[in-house]
Amino acid sequence: MRVAVIGTGYVGLVTGACLAAVGHEVVGMDDNPAKIAVLGQGGLPIYEPHLADLVAQTARAGRLRFTTDVAEAVRDAAVIFICVNTPPRPDGEADLRFVESATRRVAEHATRDTLLVEKSTVPVQTGHWIQKTLALYARRPGLTFDVASNPEFTREGMAVEDFLHPDRLVLGVAHPRAEAVLRALYAPIVEGRFACPVHPDCRVDRAVPVLVTDIASAELIKHAANSFLALKITFANAVADVCEAAGADILEVVKGVGLDKRIGRAFLNAGLGFGGSCFPKDLRAFVKIAERTGYDFTLLKEVTRLNAHRQVQVVEKLRQALWILQGKRIGLLGLAFKPHTDDVREAPALALARRLLDEGAAVQGYDPQAAAKAREAVPGLTICPDPYAAAAQAEAVVLCTEWPEFVGLDFARLKAGMVRPLILDGRNALDREALTALGFEYLGIGRGRPVPTPPRTP
Ligand code: UDX
Ligand code: UDX
Repeated sequence: MRVAVIGTGYVGLVTGACLAAVGHEVVGMDDNPAKIAVLGQGGLPIYEPHLADLVAQTARAGRLRFTTDVAEAVRDAAVIFICVNTPPRPDGEADLRFVESATRRVAEHATRDTLLVEKSTVPVQTGHWIQKTLALYARRPGLTFDVASNPEFTREGMAVEDFLHPDRLVLGVAHPRAEAVLRALYAPIVEGRFACPVHPDCRVDRAVPVLVTDIASAELIKHAANSFLALKITFANAVADVCEAAGADILEVVKGVGLDKRIGRAFLNAGLGFGGSCFPKDLRAFVKIAERTGYDFTLLKEVTRLNAHRQVQVVEKLRQALWILQGKRIGLLGLAFKPHTDDVREAPALALARRLLDEGAAVQGYDPQAAAKAREAVPGLTICPDPYAAAAQAEAVVLCTEWPEFVGLDFARLKAGMVRPLILDGRNALDREALTALGFEYLGIGRGRPVPTPPRTP
């Protein structure tokens, strides 16, 4: 099928490349000419595992191309995905002006009956507004426009796998026509009829559950799912704080709790808190959506408050260990909001860096992928070329993002460059016993009482 994707960012690029990979003909459109230029030359404006290969393969096969011209993208498209960003406004409401602008341009340039699909995370009732806008601005008489909500559940760093092997597909539709189009579009994925470009030997051993529902319910599923995941993380962080005070070990507690199949171990990792372009934004949007319906979602307000407090708690942990932060050099391992991405949107590492800089500390950091974006986001942060440079002359090092390469560092070498061997493991990703044996003062998150530091070797 001919597919258009409007907005070729993290969501749009993955959507376009994966649909092309399963056999569709995709045109990706973006208003940012620099992005389209990079894509046109075979480059990628973001880092996402497997995506560069996928874009290159499908572009070479002539099934994926890019343009800044919306008329070209939309022409003859049977399905048009809206993947523009929906950033939070200061009051927390999602800013939908890009969604409206994309909708109007589809109405003006569509040349055939088409299905407009909300892929971006949008508040409930957005589908209603999109339908009205299409009717208002449709240029060609007699065209039929359908609208659907097809929320994405892809995680950054896993987005290609999550798109090609989803836990479920949610199709929010108002007419059987729209359901038929989406079922045809996703058939290769639902039935596993495609050569997986990521794991050649992977077998899709189960049909993907497809939930067909109304548009409003589909829109709410996305906010409810993300908010629940953020709530689950925040619960683990709160229990970690109790563990710290009670001398229990959060890793043991969540292991036991996670064995209950009603709960599950995933998303119970205590640490620096959650970041990214989704959870923080979607929580605030969901609270506003609920408010508009007359419900005061205090539970989610508390999740947002507790999550922002994580970095305050880490600064206090450092103050407890270092006394005066002013003038102290502190190294950060990891700056992206999670591993396997270059995305620093609402990254806890950068929130921590800002707080430490406000305290007058000298902050230096390293990240394998996010260095450029971090430098832009926090000008006062010194970017280092490698993890050892990030620890050089530091009074403390904080592991903020659990990149696999940090687990395997030469910690003796790291320690040798530090003024004081203090390491705060912000993601409980490191081996406390091994580091303590090496002479580090190890601080975890909720790992019981701090392990007594061995007498300082002269
Ligand atoms: C974002 C959020 O992360 C995601 O939660 C939400 O569901 C959709 O919006 P993402 O792909 O991460 O998705 O946003 P971003 O990387 O900023 O990409 C948006 C793209 O849309 C950008 O490339 C931007 O240039 C483009 N865009 C935006 C347009 O082409 N036209 C517009 O009018 C607005
Ligand atoms: C999330 C949802 O998982 C995905 O389904 C949705 O489509 C988009 O938003 P993403 O934000 O890309 O995906 O990453 P995710 O892996 O969910 O992590 C989000 C944040 O939570 C990261 O900052 C991560 O460090 C943090 N996190 C995650 C924890 O602190 N503890 C955990 O146990 C899991």
